[in-house]
Amino acid sequence: MSDYQFWSSRYKQQASWTRETRNFIINQISLPLQANILEVGCGSCAVLDEFTESGHNTVGLDIDFQILKYSIQNSSKASLINGDGLSLSLKNDFFDICFCHYLLLWIDNPVRILKEMSRVTNKTGWICIFAEPDYLSRIDYPSPLDKLGQMQNSSLSNQGVNLSAGRNLQNWLMQAGFSNIHWGIYGFHQKVESHSINADSEWATTQRDLEKLYSVEEILKYKEIEDNARTQGFRILFIPTFYAYAQI
Ligand SMILES: C[S@@+](CC[C@H](N)C(=O)[O-])C[C@H]1O[C@@H](n2cnc3c(N)ncnc32)[C@H](O)[C@@H]1O
Repeated sequence: MSDYQFWSSRYKQQASWTRETRNFIINQISLPLQANILEVGCGSCAVLDEFTESGHNTVGLDIDFQILKYSIQNSSKASLINGDGLSLSLKNDFFDICFCHYLLLWIDNPVRILKEMSRVTNKTGWICIFAEPDYLSRIDYPSPLDKLGQMQNSSLSNQGVNLSAGRNLQNWLMQAGFSNIHWGIYGFHQKVESHSINADSEWATTQRDLEKLYSVEEILKYKEIEDNARTQGFRILFIPTFYAYAQI
């Protein structure tokens, strides 16, 4: 499996976790029937394609040209732009909704990106930050899987991730000059199962992060503890994920 295949299927899985809350947010704001919608940091268009399929005019922007190429090959119908969200080559006041999903954690200057999103959104439109995790407040259970969580956080931090992005959303929106700000945290309903369908993808993602810093032997040690806890049904991995939406 290529890196892009892996990430595309991971993004689809994340998009499925956040769908219900996205629908809640969309119901809270009045969206025109054929809205102009921009996603900054669209990746493989896992979320954006849902809006395209509902008949909206969709534009996706991403800094990674290759992932956009992958999206086109996998028949995304959105208009795609290769560019940096920190400086959008788009005109003012055009979009009814400008959104992002798992983007701001990767950005050094999220307030600047939010200001750009504000500039290209019309005055009655909305900015939606559909999901941003807060790795610093993660729960990993049982011990010593808390150590595994810290190891993944170290690797993410080394890759440039802001581990406390989630808790900052409200503050960043205020700094970027937004009003009518709403925010919340995703709920986390689980059914105890000896093998959850999410477990393999979750472990594969963790392993990719760990491999950047730790030896195979050390990773395999935790994999055994993780498998054992999952089989017995008491593994908890909870990373609080925030959302927010606001107007200019
Ligand atoms: C974790 S992925 C999320 C992709 C997509 N939003 C989703 O949830 O399926 C983050 C994406 O943001 C893009 N990205 C990171 N920094 C960016 C920037 N400054 N401008 C535009 N895109 C950026 C990355 O290339 C990547 O595709």
